[in-house]
Amino acid sequence: MNGNKVDVLLGLQWGDEGKGKVVDVLTPGYDIIARFQGGPNAGHTLEFNGIKQVLHTIPSGIFREDKMNIIGNGVVLDPAIFKKEIESISRIGFDLSEKLLISKKAHLILPTHRLLDAASESAKGDTKIGSTLKGIGPTYRDKIGREGLRIGDICENFEEKYNAHKKQHLLQLDNFYHYNYSDQLPQLEKEWFEGIEILKKFEFVDSENYLNNALNAGKTVIAEGAQGTMLDIDFGSYPFVTSSNTICAGACTGMGLAPQRIGNVYGIFKAYCTRVGMGPFPTELFDETGHLLRDRGNEYGATTGRPRRCGWLDLVALNYSIMINGVTDLIMMKADVMDEFDTIKICTAYKINGKETTEFPYELNENVEPVYTELPGWKTDLTELTSEEQFPIKLKEYIKFIEEQTGVSISIVSVGPNRKQTIVRK
Ligand code: GDP
Ligand code: IMO
Ligand code: MG
Repeated sequence: MNGNKVDVLLGLQWGDEGKGKVVDVLTPGYDIIARFQGGPNAGHTLEFNGIKQVLHTIPSGIFREDKMNIIGNGVVLDPAIFKKEIESISRIGFDLSEKLLISKKAHLILPTHRLLDAASESAKGDTKIGSTLKGIGPTYRDKIGREGLRIGDICENFEEKYNAHKKQHLLQLDNFYHYNYSDQLPQLEKEWFEGIEILKKFEFVDSENYLNNALNAGKTVIAEGAQGTMLDIDFGSYPFVTSSNTICAGACTGMGLAPQRIGNVYGIFKAYCTRVGMGPFPTELFDETGHLLRDRGNEYGATTGRPRRCGWLDLVALNYSIMINGVTDLIMMKADVMDEFDTIKICTAYKINGKETTEFPYELNENVEPVYTELPGWKTDLTELTSEEQFPIKLKEYIKFIEEQTGVSISIVSVGPNRKQTIVRK
């Protein structure tokens, strides 16, 4: 196949690995930055020049000059949240009108999708997913059920189409969930239609043609994943997952790119683990160490503000993610959070019903017990380091151990939230 390949950056854990930060750091090396799945359930944090910005739907390349950002067909977009995002970005002095294209085939999250998400979660009670309540599940359900509304629909008879979808959703809310929405819906709709007007200021494109043509013309593209492999609809801890394919294959379907188009696959992970929402988490810590990781790592959801559950690095899960995605390079985040630890544990195997295995099981139930290796901590402030040569020996050993256990090299180590606190290894 002629033309360039696309590099893909993906979360290998349960999301919030630091994807936004790294995409922003890598953006100078690319012409185009594309999102391919998920929606405003994502919260990608960027910090630079005294600015801290959380992005939900908009790719993390928008703060760099002369780059094109694309919202691909696999994304689900809520106009109301999009409007807020555009306004918050313009308040800090950035104009996106010439820098952002939106796929006509991306699906719209309707106000009633958000209500259905809330109704479904409250009906589940104790078995709820812990969704971000952004309407993600109901929107993808409509997409797969061939009942969705797309960006391209905005052009013709839009109100008519909207009302038909709304009517269907209200029937479900009334008759199935018995959910009272009358106090919420008018405001949600007002904000949503205001968002539609903002959306119309952007160019809607056939992004699959745009991207393939750009690659053929020698342009470079990086695809920015949302969520993480452990939240993938097929390979995550089902049903405690999101509703899209967060894995590398999702980049093909979410942008209209052939598998041969995939180049480097950057797999990003935290030096420990976090999870927000419900669902299994074998290495979760409920003790002081868990609290310390949360406090030092500021582990609170960028989208919902919920406290994130924290635990040790899980190499069984990480190796599974590396396999599913074909990761070519690892990127390790937030090593600095463990700066003061005397020792650090890493899960290298699971004991399931007394039998040890390194294979990721069908189900992560209460029989899955992590087996740990303990390594000494580096007891050094990493946040001011600027090159690999300055790494303390114990950090080098931690990195080497992970590389040996995964068979993949760690090409970037992040030592703080700021753009500058990023060390590219040779
Ligand atoms: P994303 O969803 O993968 O983009 O990640 P989030 O933005 O949800 O969460 C990552 C959090 O960690 C954000 O608050 C970042 O500012 C912060 N962060 C990213 N990299 C580092 C790092 O190396 N060290 C520290 N201490 N914080 C980091
Ligand atoms: P980023 O891109 C962490 C989790 C939710 C919930 C489950 C389903 O910032 O890494 P959904 O709203 O998708 O129906 O929720 O998935 N979740 C995330 N957790 N980071 C995310 O995105 C997430 N997006 C969804 O907490 O458990
Ligand atoms: Mg996040």
